[in-house]
Amino acid sequence: MAYSGPFQPGDRVQLTDPKRRHHTIVLEDGGVFFTHKGEIHHDDIIGLDEGSVVLSQLGSEYLCFRHLYVDHVLSMPRGAAVVYPKDTAQILVEGDIFPGARVLEAGAGSGALTIALLRAVGEPGEVHSWEIREDHLGFARENVAAYFGGEPDNWHPHLGDLGDVTVEDTGGQVDRVILDMVEPWHFLDTVRDLLIPGGVLMTYVTTVPQLMNTMEGIRGTGSFAEPRAWETLLREWRVEGKATRPEHRMNAHTAFLVWARRLADGVTPPHPQRRARR
Ligand SMILES: C[S@@+](CC[C@H](N)C(=O)[O-])C[C@H]1O[C@@H](n2cnc3c(N)ncnc32)[C@H](O)[C@@H]1O
Repeated sequence: MAYSGPFQPGDRVQLTDPKRRHHTIVLEDGGVFFTHKGEIHHDDIIGLDEGSVVLSQLGSEYLCFRHLYVDHVLSMPRGAAVVYPKDTAQILVEGDIFPGARVLEAGAGSGALTIALLRAVGEPGEVHSWEIREDHLGFARENVAAYFGGEPDNWHPHLGDLGDVTVEDTGGQVDRVILDMVEPWHFLDTVRDLLIPGGVLMTYVTTVPQLMNTMEGIRGTGSFAEPRAWETLLREWRVEGKATRPEHRMNAHTAFLVWARRLADGVTPPHPQRRARR
């Protein structure tokens, strides 16, 4: 897929109408998009720069931009809830997903995080995605393929239970493990075996009991340095002269993120780990 340059066939393009409604089309030679303001011919868009305006047959203006990652994941079909983009950003940076990294994620769900991981590791990296539900893996495969224009060679989607995964399945230990599943604390022994010493584990959980179980589970393994937990709040602002103020509405809660680094084999955590209070 093209990220820049003039529009070309195969591009996923977002058209914004005068009422700021979005319509997404995939450009094809000779294609036509039908609106209640008349037809828009794909050939009128192909070759234009991004940010151009095309006219429908009845003269209505449509602004054209390529679909960005955020547009894609928030509009794509899904079987499971996706990692919200503000949390994806945290996972990529705090999880230190570097170019060339070997990453394992579970579950793949709808493939939103998968796409971001694949972009971050680039061609020299690898992403192994485990998903226990066949229907969810189907959504992930379709969404990843739709984004990249086919399944990337360095993506390894697997149908199965994370608990059954071994280092043979991933061709050696991985640099990073990202878990977005209901009960990640049940899989910490598996993660310890799969992750290199110094590797980063991040989990994405939505409720307070899940957060507590994950933190206590990580401490209980004795295989990770003291874990951290946080959430990210994102509040948009309406900037209009003297009426400038925060937006009334926000997605106040999406999930908690938990972060931990694997210790070398045989090392016990050097600092006393915090104990759970009952
Ligand atoms: C919230 S979804 C993941 C969404 C995904 N991160 C995304 O951004 O699109 C959680 C997924 O974990 C899968 N899952 C749960 N337990 C699992 C296990 N033991 N092994 C593999 N996948 C599992 C579920 O089937 C579900 O699809």
